[in-house]
Amino acid sequence: EKGGYPHFMLKEINEQPAAIMATVSPRVEDGLPVLRIPELTDEVLRGIGRVHLVGCGTAMHAGMVGKSAIETLARVPAEVDIASEFRYRDPILEKNDLVIIISQSGETSDTLAALKLAKSRGVPVLAIVNVVGSSIARAADYVMYTYAGPEIAVASTKAYMVQMCVLYLFALRLAYARGRLSEAETRRFTAQLLRAPEVIKPRLADCEQIKYLASRYVNTQSCFFIGRGFDYALSLEGSLKLKEISYVHSDAYAAGELKHGTISLITDGVPVIALATQKQVYEKTISNAKETRSRGARVLLFTTKDAVVPEGVADAVIRLDEYEDILMPLQLIVPLQLFAYYMAVLRGCDVDKPRNLAKSVTVE
Ligand code: M6R
Repeated sequence: EKGGYPHFMLKEINEQPAAIMATVSPRVEDGLPVLRIPELTDEVLRGIGRVHLVGCGTAMHAGMVGKSAIETLARVPAEVDIASEFRYRDPILEKNDLVIIISQSGETSDTLAALKLAKSRGVPVLAIVNVVGSSIARAADYVMYTYAGPEIAVASTKAYMVQMCVLYLFALRLAYARGRLSEAETRRFTAQLLRAPEVIKPRLADCEQIKYLASRYVNTQSCFFIGRGFDYALSLEGSLKLKEISYVHSDAYAAGELKHGTISLITDGVPVIALATQKQVYEKTISNAKETRSRGARVLLFTTKDAVVPEGVADAVIRLDEYEDILMPLQLIVPLQLFAYYMAVLRGCDVDKPRNLAKSVTVE
C-alpha cells in the first residue's frame, strides 16, 4: 500500500507531480485558466471586493500563498484567517466579498464552522477541498476539488501542493477577468504553472543531499526559519512540518522581524533556515541571514541557481532552478518537506502518525 516507500509521507511527497497534473490540467483551456464554476463568471469575478481565505494549519498556510498571489496578480485585497479565529472574531464581511475555505479532509470542525458563519452572513463561499462529498464540500456554494488522491500521512504534503495550485489558477483567472493581466501574460503564467511537475521532479531527486543535510542538523534542539513575502509563508509551512513530525522546536519569522526580538535567541550553533527565492527582497533576506550568522547561527540557505551568495552568509546553500518568483513556493516546499521527513526518520520518530495528532481534527 505504501508503493515501496518506507512511509506514506515519502510516497505522498513523491506523488506531487502527478497530483499537480491532475489538478491543474483539467482547468486549463486553450492556454487560459478556467474555474469550471458556472456561477463564477468573469463578470462576477470583476465584482469581488475582497477575498477571505480561511483554513487551519497547513491549509491556512496555503491560504497565505493564495493571498499573496491574489494581491500581486489581481490587486484584489485578500485576508487570511485561521478558522478558529475567524469564527469567533465577528469578521467584517461584505456582500460582494468571497470567502475561500481550504481543507484537505473537508471535515475540520473549526473550518466548517467558519464556512457556516460566512454563509449565515450571506457571503458566497468557495471551498477548495480534497475529499469528495465531505461536509465542507457539501456545505459550500461552490467547490474546486484538489485531485491529490487520498492523503494518509498526518503531515500534509501533496494536499498543500495542490491547494496552492488551485489558488494560483483562481488568482490568474481573477487577474485576467479584471484586466490586471493581459491575455499574453495570463497565458505565460498558466504555461509556467503547467510546467510545475517538471520543475519539482529534480527537487525530489535531491533527496540524498537533503538527507545528508538533515543528518548534520539531527541533534538540534531548536531552529528558526526566516523569509520574506512568499518565502515567509513557506517558512511557516516548513517550520510546521518540522515540528509536527520530528518534534524539534522550530519557529518561523518574517526575516525583517528578527531584530524585533527573536535575534536574542540566536547563539552559537543555532540552525537558521533562510529562504531567499524572491528577487525583489533577496538582498534584504541575505543581510538578515548574515546577521544571524555573525551571531553564531548555522545558516542553511535556500535560493535559486543564479543568485549570487556573498561569502560568509551560509554554511550550506541549496539551489533551486530558476522559475517564476510567484510560483516558487511550488518548488521550494519540496526540499522543506524532505528536510522535515529525514529529520523525523533520523530521530526515530513515527513519521506517519506523530504523537498527539490526528489526520482530521473534527473536534474544536
Ligand atoms: O483537513 P484539513 O486540511 O482541514 O486539515 C487542516 C489541518 O489540521 C492540517 O493541515 C494540519 O495542520 C496538518 N497535519 C499539517 O501537516
